[in-house]
Amino acid sequence: MYKILEKREIAMRNTWFKIHAPHVARKVQPGQFVIVRAFKNGERIPLTPVMWDKEEGWIVLIVFTRGKTTARMAAELGEGDGILNIAGPLGNPAEMERFGKILAIGAYTGIVEVYPIARAWQEFGNDVTTLHVTFEPMVVLKDEMEKAVGRHILETVQIDPNLDFPANMKNVTRRLTERVRELLEKEHFDLVFMVGPTGDQKEVFEVVREYGIPMEADLHPIMVDGTGMCGACRVTVGGEVRFACIDGPSFDAYKVDWEELIHRVGFYVPKERMAFEEYLRQVRGGVQ
Ligand code: FES
Repeated sequence: MYKILEKREIAMRNTWFKIHAPHVARKVQPGQFVIVRAFKNGERIPLTPVMWDKEEGWIVLIVFTRGKTTARMAAELGEGDGILNIAGPLGNPAEMERFGKILAIGAYTGIVEVYPIARAWQEFGNDVTTLHVTFEPMVVLKDEMEKAVGRHILETVQIDPNLDFPANMKNVTRRLTERVRELLEKEHFDLVFMVGPTGDQKEVFEVVREYGIPMEADLHPIMVDGTGMCGACRVTVGGEVRFACIDGPSFDAYKVDWEELIHRVGFYVPKERMAFEEYLRQVRGGVQ
């Protein structure tokens, strides 16, 4: 069991868990993830350690409520409780190089994965700008990001309770692509990096490609074991089948088969849509 040392809701549908997990804290590097099984017979979910302390042996996970397991984690687990299993660290660490000027983008909860990487890149001597685009009540890590990188840009979109889930998300995508275009139009960047929903990654990639700037994207296909055994996370990159868990999670955006990936991750869209629409029913006060 991995003891929960701290738990708090830090934004709408975002829960902060500080967990005693010394074997992860000792080895984890920016860009890596863990697979968490919180409950007996429960599903395994990939999550990214946001921060950690090697000496004290803890990690922080920010869990976004997107389905049954994450909703149960937010509702049923508290300080002093245990998480059944945490496997990892898994995946490859982010490359630490002097790239120069970097634009690191997080859409929605993607900023949670961007944080440790952007911070490490800045410490390594890069000039890092982070861009977080999300719904207004879902802002996380603003203060931490402002301290960690050269410049943190936050763009929030109001949730319109009169619009459905896809229409609200389209507003975020529009703001995201507009802001990226504005930045690339005005400034030179040596590298763009992005974490977020696959559809948004592709939209941003289409903008970045117009400017010919190298782009890396952390991919989020379905993951089960996280060790290259099950094949669930396969993606096509440069015409070859790769496994996001052991070959990634970061890949050259120019080589990713985006259409195929969007099709595969679309399997979960109806579930996420149901969860979001349940939230909308709540904010409408039960009026449908
Ligand atoms: Fe099973 Fe990657 S998650 S092969």
